[in-house]
Amino acid sequence: MNESERKTYRATARAHANVAVAKYWGKRDTNLNLPLFDSVAFNIEGLVTETTATWNDDDIHDALIINAWQVPPHAMGRIQRILDDIRTRKGWTKRCVLQSHNNFPLATGLASSASGCAAAAMAAAAAAELQLDQNTLSSIARLGSGSAARSIPAGWTRWHAGSLSDGSDAFATSIAPPNHWPLHVFVIQVSDAPKNVSSTECMLRCQKSPYWEAFLQQAKKAADIAQNAILQRDFPALTAAIHQNTMCLHALTMTCTPPVCYFAPKTIEILQRILRLCQAVPVCCTLDAGANVVILCEDTACPFIKNDIIALGLPFIQSRIGSGASVT
Ligand code: DP6
Repeated sequence: MNESERKTYRATARAHANVAVAKYWGKRDTNLNLPLFDSVAFNIEGLVTETTATWNDDDIHDALIINAWQVPPHAMGRIQRILDDIRTRKGWTKRCVLQSHNNFPLATGLASSASGCAAAAMAAAAAAELQLDQNTLSSIARLGSGSAARSIPAGWTRWHAGSLSDGSDAFATSIAPPNHWPLHVFVIQVSDAPKNVSSTECMLRCQKSPYWEAFLQQAKKAADIAQNAILQRDFPALTAAIHQNTMCLHALTMTCTPPVCYFAPKTIEILQRILRLCQAVPVCCTLDAGANVVILCEDTACPFIKNDIIALGLPFIQSRIGSGASVT
């Protein structure tokens, strides 16, 4: 065995969960996770996945271990696409073991697949000693889960839908760094149960909803509207944009067949409290495909969040707009 074969190819990377203010919901290519329209999101500093990738010649399969749980082979599909891409770039037959740790619950609408796929892509590429630019890493992360494209760049991000059929122009870029608008982020954990219908499945169902065309019209404009509000630090504009986009998405999921309702009773209680509060103080909220609620607010609204929302006694994380993925 020569020197390069005996070498250990290992690296560790961290990525943050991201939550969209203008959401991705619908694909122009299901295999490559190419979106139908642009989306805009922010990373959450306090929600982190850290992953160590090790390439070796001994194993016959790739492996993913999340918080000490070994993912079964039939569930490796998403991560497999990321590793296959890196293997092809390298011209390798080596297999990869990914050891991953999340500091938050999986598959509950807290975007663990986004941070997970972004950390896996960055760690596996670094371990393979590939020098890839951020756009390429974002495209590779996207292969695992579309929204993971947005966990590679820092702060406020925009995932460009692109138009090329190979997806090489469908990556996310940063539109503003984390300190551009130092908002507070509260993640309220309404449920730690896995969601009953995956985003991938629900998106497909929604394209047959009678409301799909109306949703599409709104969703295609949403990224520009959200980006302008963010760049101008215009909280009322952000509030209007995020609430309309969130409600359109959830109204749509309720009209597919069979219908999907991601709300839990406490989700609605929090939504109603925020919709009341936002008329008086700078606060707004959103939720992805799950029951948990993510709240954004300015400094002056923090005491109101504590009185009205934290007082409900649910587990929560208070955080800030997060950085991009990095090799540690
Ligand atoms: C509601 O990225 O989980 O969170 O590409 O099929 O893996 P796949 O879907 P995923 O969908 C995220 C949907 C969303 C909105 C968003 O994050 O933009």
